[in-house]
Amino acid sequence: MVRTIVIMGDPVLRTRAEQVGSFDEGLRCLVDDMFETMYHAEGIGLAANQISVLKQVLVVDVRDEKDAAAGRMALINPRIVKASSEVHKETEGCLSVPGLEEVVQRPLDIKVEASDVYGAPVSVNAGALLARALQHEIDHLEGILFLDRVSPFKRRLLMKKWKKTRAERAEK
Ligand code: NI
Repeated sequence: MVRTIVIMGDPVLRTRAEQVGSFDEGLRCLVDDMFETMYHAEGIGLAANQISVLKQVLVVDVRDEKDAAAGRMALINPRIVKASSEVHKETEGCLSVPGLEEVVQRPLDIKVEASDVYGAPVSVNAGALLARALQHEIDHLEGILFLDRVSPFKRRLLMKKWKKTRAERAEK
């Protein structure tokens, strides 16, 4: 089922998601819905907060990337256990912040530990777009948006643009 994606301004995006304790059928339904919602919105990642569920669950699919062979995954209770000192700048957007894009600097390679939907431990060594998508979604689970990771100056400009486009949309 495609769920509604909340947009910036909703406090759920600023709230830390809670650890998942039971790896039950309900969790697998949530993950199915998250994949469906992400594909419907043509995104490459989605965190549970974005559909108003405060659980540490994320999905990503970056399989278009040639260097990400295993780019489709659902991770439960993910945490970054290692990050490269080498960083990379790339333009990011977010399904919860439609219309805004900005360059964000992040570590190039990361290692993530998490559980799969059955509660089995998984470890992911990610680089390039997968590393970026995972960091973006893990931020969501902490209540952090990509706009928090750009300079205050750029953030002010982006917020101005955001308010303008939201106001225009509201008029229609
Ligand atoms: Ni996002």
